[in-house]
Amino acid sequence: TPVPEFDFVLFGATGDLATRKLLPSLVRREAEGVLPPRGRIICVGRRPVGTEEFVKQALRPAADLDEATLDRFRSRVRYLAMDVTDPRGHAELAALLGDTPAVRVFFLAVGPNLFAPICARLAEAGSVTPASRVVLEKPIGHDLASSREINDAVGRAFAEEQVYRIDHYLGKETVQNLMVLRFANTLFERPWSAADIDHVQITCAETLGVEGRGDYYEHSGALRDMVQNHMLQLLCLVAMEPPTALEKDSVRDEKLKVLKAIRPIQDGAVQAVTVRGQYGPGAIDGAPVGGYLADIGAAESDTETFVALKAEIRNFRWSGVPFYLRTGKRLPSRCSEIIVSFKPPRHSIFPDAAGTPAANQLVIRLQPDEGISQLTTMKAPGSGRMVLMPASLRLSFGEDGGRVPEAYERLLTDVIRGDATLFMRRDEVEASWRWVEPILEGWRAQGQRPLRYAAGTWGPSAAIALIERDGRSWHETEVPIGRPAA
Ligand code: BG6
Repeated sequence: TPVPEFDFVLFGATGDLATRKLLPSLVRREAEGVLPPRGRIICVGRRPVGTEEFVKQALRPAADLDEATLDRFRSRVRYLAMDVTDPRGHAELAALLGDTPAVRVFFLAVGPNLFAPICARLAEAGSVTPASRVVLEKPIGHDLASSREINDAVGRAFAEEQVYRIDHYLGKETVQNLMVLRFANTLFERPWSAADIDHVQITCAETLGVEGRGDYYEHSGALRDMVQNHMLQLLCLVAMEPPTALEKDSVRDEKLKVLKAIRPIQDGAVQAVTVRGQYGPGAIDGAPVGGYLADIGAAESDTETFVALKAEIRNFRWSGVPFYLRTGKRLPSRCSEIIVSFKPPRHSIFPDAAGTPAANQLVIRLQPDEGISQLTTMKAPGSGRMVLMPASLRLSFGEDGGRVPEAYERLLTDVIRGDATLFMRRDEVEASWRWVEPILEGWRAQGQRPLRYAAGTWGPSAAIALIERDGRSWHETEVPIGRPAA
């Protein structure tokens, strides 16, 4: 479907997310010719700069695009300096928007404390039309109660169908591919259950520290920042039943069922199956880096920058299959992947062969090199004795020079088109908070402080013990999927 005429209002336009991801993604869409001739981008920020100055800054990351594209993009943009909680600014915005039937998107790339006031002011100013949608960036709240409050406040200005809660992981190319892999390939969907799968691992590792986001992060921590949203969404896509169609409510209904089926981790279980860590000084790629405390300029902090945990899904398909999740900042490499580890064959007819059959593993790599690889057992070539060896079938999405689009490129035009399939519904967000809360509560009640790990290592050794206790180990990826093994 073509992108309809639109007005895209970006709140927080001079912020980090807008500058690094949102504006560059819109420019990319411009370059692809996806945006219709009539489509305005109204950028709202507090900083009193002129449109020209703003556009110059905003387009800096897109310097490699041709002049014609940049010109077309420039002509869409208008910068509006205002205090987003002040009705006067909103009156000006309403006048600028005018009275058009075009799709109207309000993208709130601001802190969640501003969601309620912005929505209320938009409604009062008469800016919310039937063709309007509001996009909320995470975090939607701090816990279940605050997320409900926000959702209620947003709900007073917008109907639920108009609310798009973004989780940019759902826009990642490989994440969408996960659904195709599962539901368009008999080969994978048939054995996709406890009968054949031993366990699943999901890792989201970053080399970055908290960068300049200490204020936000200190009140969040890795569980709220990554697990409550991105990682649970990935878990849902791996574990959900086939939706009846690729349509928003079918997909979201199935994800919600998974969220409700994850066994709560509470009380004594918290200590047994979760690990919290915080990075200290160390080295990334051989270069020394400071610890979390130095990064946020504090003498003390109980915020975790690393979490590992073991989750279980209580349903027919997954009973008995552990899902191990881990995420952290300042880990040795930037790598996000899902590992589906299959059970070994029930009986071996190669007892005399050298080498043992490797457990089949499906590695779904989200980044840095998007792709899928399947660890398979093969016969080593040669006419002598039978020798078994592991071999990897690889499928790389970034090959052939094809550019893998940024998650936001897809999601932004989905909003304008009105396709909410890759966005979260209110009940999903709340179910995720409901699951996360007892873990936070357990940490607090038991005084479970984060264990220190050196920057550039895979987190506290307790995270390794967590999986090794079960006779399993974290997947180590050394060879990029896109490149053949040496
Ligand atoms: C964000 C988190 O949602 O996701 C950040 O707030 C994190 O802390 C980021 O760095 C990771 O996203 P990506 O796309 O780089 O994996």
